[in-house]
Amino acid sequence: MFLLLSTIFLINFLCINSCPSGSSKGPNGNCYKVINNADHGNPDWFEAEGLCHKDGGHLASISDSFTNSFIANLARTVLGDSSYWIGAVRTMTWWNNTLPLNQTWTWLDFKDFQYTNWNKSMQVQPNPDFLYLCLTQDSVAGTWNPVDCYLNLLPFACEYTNSTQDLCPEDDLNHTIKWTHLTAFGEKCYGLVYPDPYTIYGNFSWNDALNYCSHFSSNSNQASLVSIHSDLENAIITIYMSYDTNVYYYDEFWIGLQIPSNNSTNMTWSDGTLVDFTYWFDSQQILAPGFCTEYIMSFHSGDRWDLNACNRNLAAFVCEYWNLK
Ligand SMILES: *[C@@H]1O[C@H](CO)[C@@H](O)[C@H](O)[C@H]1NC(C)=O
Ligand SMILES: *[C@@H]1O[C@H](CO)[C@@H](O)[C@H](O)[C@H]1NC(C)=O
Ligand SMILES: *[C@@H]1O[C@H](CO)[C@@H](O)[C@H](O)[C@H]1NC(C)=O
Ligand SMILES: *[C@@H]1O[C@H](CO)[C@@H](O)[C@H](O)[C@H]1NC(C)=O
Ligand SMILES: *[C@@H]1O[C@H](CO)[C@@H](O)[C@H](O)[C@H]1NC(C)=O
Ligand SMILES: *[C@@H]1O[C@H](CO)[C@@H](O)[C@H](O)[C@H]1NC(C)=O
Ligand SMILES: *[C@@H]1O[C@H](CO)[C@@H](O)[C@H](O)[C@H]1NC(C)=O
Ligand SMILES: *[C@@H]1O[C@H](CO)[C@@H](O)[C@H](O)[C@H]1NC(C)=O
Ligand SMILES: *[C@@H]1O[C@H](CO)[C@@H](O)[C@H](O)[C@H]1NC(C)=O
Repeated sequence: MFLLLSTIFLINFLCINSCPSGSSKGPNGNCYKVINNADHGNPDWFEAEGLCHKDGGHLASISDSFTNSFIANLARTVLGDSSYWIGAVRTMTWWNNTLPLNQTWTWLDFKDFQYTNWNKSMQVQPNPDFLYLCLTQDSVAGTWNPVDCYLNLLPFACEYTNSTQDLCPEDDLNHTIKWTHLTAFGEKCYGLVYPDPYTIYGNFSWNDALNYCSHFSSNSNQASLVSIHSDLENAIITIYMSYDTNVYYYDEFWIGLQIPSNNSTNMTWSDGTLVDFTYWFDSQQILAPGFCTEYIMSFHSGDRWDLNACNRNLAAFVCEYWNLK
């Protein structure tokens, strides 16, 4: 009995104080892992974030020179002389001559973009075909280069912190809700709900899903079905949906966009935010009252939003949680 108890204590102790398997504790107390998937094909930047996230982390944010050197050293032992993804992104619509290259970057899950370590001789030509620029770090120089997020397939550095547990609700094992924290789109937690397909098969109407998400609200925090306000936010949520869940079972997710049944063709987000971005399957989408929006993952026709009857039962949906302290 004593042995059992002390084993449990030891396991708890290790879980709290040590890093997830294969990762190393950096100078700021966060844990880092550099991954090379070259044998199976390295990922683009979005896929790399999906792989880190599936493992409980994010692409690494670098906020000081100690962490910068730590990750570069770690990468050198894994990769030798190479470059790899780190977690900052910038949309190309911000790219024009008035904004210097070192501005308008954002880390996915870290608020300040103050510390930088640019490659002083980097040359990035504005390219109207690029939607986004993403950061890579060089393992030998430790310096950063911005490159196209989709065209480059690279190793990547993941970071694991406690911030998700501190800032988001507890994961609810019954409904397999998994929360993640991002600062890139305002302080927000995103919760993917995808019940075990072998025991529960999809029976959440849009209202069931909204009620389920809303029950995470408290005095200081609001929760709802997710609202999505940019192509970048949409792309990140898509990556989480496709890497966390088994797309074979979960190819349709409720999100918070609704066309109320009271004779309006106006769309509303369930959290009351402005409808400033849409991603319809069919650009000629007929907006009929009384319909709700699902996100469809489709290998054939691309990932898009589509309208469906609000009382249709789906297995999966995405919640959000905000007004964080
Ligand atoms: C996580 O929390 C534990 C206990 O509060 C703390 O000892 C540890 O340093 C934290 N780790 C990180 C990565 O913040
Ligand atoms: C560059 O981008 C900024 C911010 O979006 C905008 O205010 C400015 O008008 C743009 N300049 C040009 C020349 O497009
Ligand atoms: C950003 O770049 C501009 C122009 O290259 C430079 O003047 C400025 O000092 C840089 N800012 C930072 C924070 O590095
Ligand atoms: C810095 O940028 C130059 C020009 O793009 C490139 O040739 C060089 O390899 C980069 N150096 C490092 C260390 O990334
Ligand atoms: C899981 O479901 C059981 C049975 O319905 C319930 O008693 C328990 O409170 C639920 N746990 C959570 C974390 O929701
Ligand atoms: C979904 O199905 C389960 C198991 O049949 C049932 O317990 C639950 O109440 C149903 N939920 C909804 C929202 O219909
Ligand atoms: C329609 O219903 C929505 C959601 O219930 C509500 O917010 C809105 O005020 C209603 N509009 C009208 C014109 O009644
Ligand atoms: C919508 O408008 C029609 C005609 O004005 C009316 O008969 C119907 O009751 C309205 N439906 C709702 C849900 O308000
Ligand atoms: C639809 O939106 C327009 C513009 O925001 C607003 O003027 C109108 O009252 C809305 N209609 C309904 C039925 O809510």
